Amino acid sequence: MKEAPRAAWTRRDLLGLRELSAEEILSILDAAQGFADISTRSIRKVPTLRGRVVVNLFFEPSTRTRLSFSLAAQRLSADVLDFTTGSSSTVKGETLIDTAKNIEAMGVDVFVVRHSAPGAAAILSRNLEAAVVNAGDGAHEHPTQALLDLYTIRQKLGRFEGLHVAIVGDIGHSRVARSNIWGLLKLGAKVTVVGPPTLVPGRFAELGVEVSHDLDAVLPQVDVLNMLRIQRERQGTLNFPSSEEYTRLFGLTGERLKRAKPEVIVMHPGPINRGVEIAPEVADGPNSVILDQVAAGLAVRMAVLFLVSTGTRRDPPAQLPGVTSPGEAS
Ligand code: CP
Repeated sequence: MKEAPRAAWTRRDLLGLRELSAEEILSILDAAQGFADISTRSIRKVPTLRGRVVVNLFFEPSTRTRLSFSLAAQRLSADVLDFTTGSSSTVKGETLIDTAKNIEAMGVDVFVVRHSAPGAAAILSRNLEAAVVNAGDGAHEHPTQALLDLYTIRQKLGRFEGLHVAIVGDIGHSRVARSNIWGLLKLGAKVTVVGPPTLVPGRFAELGVEVSHDLDAVLPQVDVLNMLRIQRERQGTLNFPSSEEYTRLFGLTGERLKRAKPEVIVMHPGPINRGVEIAPEVADGPNSVILDQVAAGLAVRMAVLFLVSTGTRRDPPAQLPGVTSPGEAS
């Protein structure tokens, strides 16, 4: 029998890391560690959420987040519905809230929501009885991405206190950066955000991070490099002269990586612009933990689905993870 997760989680929703305590964040990481074991078993399924229904309500494209939430729900034996914007009645003008309320009326327990509007998940949370998980809302937050980043850092480096993490790139447009900043600072890490002034506004210093426009100066100091994607779709026009200019100053090439500590870990949330913010030899090299992040996403999302289900108003707590009798798998 494995240890139960910390008793800190009582929320029905996961909307962002800003509102979570360090204890709540650690409770998710601990629960994820328990769930990671399930993926190593011969039968990779437990009945924890049997009879529950999870819907993926994605209004923006996704590969990693959507598939890992689907697989996480299936590993927990939940039924999974996939909502696709293009073939839904939103194209006839149905609102987000009406769409969600109609889906909820079918008996859905957990909504996993990705939307271009900041606050979309919070709006649904106020209008639904079901649990709501934010899978990315505009440039606001992407909490499960930050949680899987934190999980990977703890797995690789064993701590947060005293670590120095650089988040490099399009900070101003990045929900991943915001969620990482909240989580890392709460857990005791030092954070420096790095990029050109047009992508890294000085106001970020008000959050408690350092701001730098000189990657080469920051590289030797850090334990973790989190390289963000240049988000052309959120920028309108490019906020720097050219991709080549960005790469020359902020791209993580093999040559530039030599300035960093040999044991530095290199992260990227994906999808990667190979040759722009990160060179292929670094993305696929020995310091890269990018695919470890993807693997961690499955365990983290199992934990999140489990925890918000235990916090739902309608239902008694679901079964704890770690039950191991052979009859449990299905
Ligand atoms: N990191 C991330 O959110 O990737 P997807 O857009 O593929 O889900």
